[in-house]
Amino acid sequence: MPAVVVLGAQWGDEGKGKATDQLGSRVDYVVKYNGGNNAGHTVVIDGEKYALHLLPSGILSPGVTPVIANGVVVDLAVLFAEIDALQARGIDTSRLLVSSAAHLIAPYHQVVDKVTERFLGKRRIGTTGRGIGPAYADKINRLGVRVQDLFDEHILEQKVEGALDQKNHLLVKVYNRRAITVAETVDHLLSFADRLRPMVADTALVLNRALDEGRTVVFEGGQATMLDVDHGTYPFVTSSNATAGGACTGSGVGPTRIDRVVGVVKAYTTRVGEGPFPTELLDADGEWLREVGGEYGVTTGRPRRCGWYDAVIARYASRVNGLTDLVLTKLDVLTGRERVPVCVAYDVDGVRYDEMPADQSAFHHARPVYVELDGWSEDITGCRTFEDLPVNAQRYVLALEEMSGTRVSAIGVGAGRDATIVRHDLLG
Ligand code: GDP
Ligand code: IMO
Ligand code: MG
Repeated sequence: MPAVVVLGAQWGDEGKGKATDQLGSRVDYVVKYNGGNNAGHTVVIDGEKYALHLLPSGILSPGVTPVIANGVVVDLAVLFAEIDALQARGIDTSRLLVSSAAHLIAPYHQVVDKVTERFLGKRRIGTTGRGIGPAYADKINRLGVRVQDLFDEHILEQKVEGALDQKNHLLVKVYNRRAITVAETVDHLLSFADRLRPMVADTALVLNRALDEGRTVVFEGGQATMLDVDHGTYPFVTSSNATAGGACTGSGVGPTRIDRVVGVVKAYTTRVGEGPFPTELLDADGEWLREVGGEYGVTTGRPRRCGWYDAVIARYASRVNGLTDLVLTKLDVLTGRERVPVCVAYDVDGVRYDEMPADQSAFHHARPVYVELDGWSEDITGCRTFEDLPVNAQRYVLALEEMSGTRVSAIGVGAGRDATIVRHDLLG
């Protein structure tokens, strides 16, 4: 019984939520190991749409234990709002476990996130404004407040005081904002403590024991490889490790226990927020992908930037994550195109790059080198085997597989849970 990491291989919104959900009842634990409520995963079950942010996608499958592990930053107000909304729709959330070592997002993190972006002006990151970066910054600065601190009021007060001290100087003197008091912050955080207490666990212990017993554990990455703070397009990234290594540090499960690393890629590319994006289409084709693909953010509602598939990025993601499988999503969106361009290399000021330039400035200037593949016009949303696909769609998948360096084990042909072609069992 395996431990499988499912992560984004592009800039997010590849359909990780659906890919995780689709593994469904065969999974015992689904673990969120990084990020927070900057994530937005849409899962469609029997025509019903669910938007998840902080909760792991496994929450929608009866029998699965969802886990928010130590690597996540938790906004408690969002957590309980999300739990309440799911409960109101009849979803059982009672098995949820939250790591005692996960860090908390406090209201001051959101304030700092927003003012920092405003002051960056043209150089802004385009964050989700959820306080993610400042919460991780406090964690690394050793000024963070963790879940376990909620249960010792004295410690909580000390930690909040420590975290606010510098920030208030900054907020008042530099950003011209009002100071945030220790008391209002502590009251806010403590208001969730009793409700949180029964969910809190040593999740690293729980997960390692589960693996000892032969249970199946899926580690669900938030964000994606190109948004990873180490391997992404820094500084236009999120503040956590979305890549495969993050599944280990973010959960307390060692790398020797991971059996598979699955990268989720769209049949084209999207990005939300600022930063370089070589295959971005600023023309009618980009608009077409956005409309047909429904490319609007689940978290902020922002239109997603759209472009053709970039095999250089897929190869890069295969490498830095050690991918064993790809899940190729939204193939159905490309139906009706006569030809489909795919980026195979970059041209940087006349020099050809077959792999990601190590220098970020070169990546900013990278222009895609395309090959054009033949498209298909048949509706593929009902296809359930690879052979059901039109020959040109099959060829498109095989070409991407070849260029990306990792086998395509599943193909998404629609948003619904069942609209998937499985070529290789991800849990086998
Ligand atoms: P995530 O953040 O990686 O989980 O992805 P999002 O949920 O933000 O964005 C993916 C969107 O594509 C969602 O609206 C899904 O319902 C939808 N989706 C996922 N797979 C497919 C697919 O194969 N075909 C189509 N048409 N939609 C899909
Ligand atoms: P899922 O899990 C796409 C982007 C933001 C911004 C940058 C930093 O749904 O794929 P942050 O608020 O994290 O500090 O913002 O990262 N970003 C995402 N883009 N999908 C996501 O999550 C994202 N989470 C953050 O748009 O550019
Ligand atoms: Mg998303």
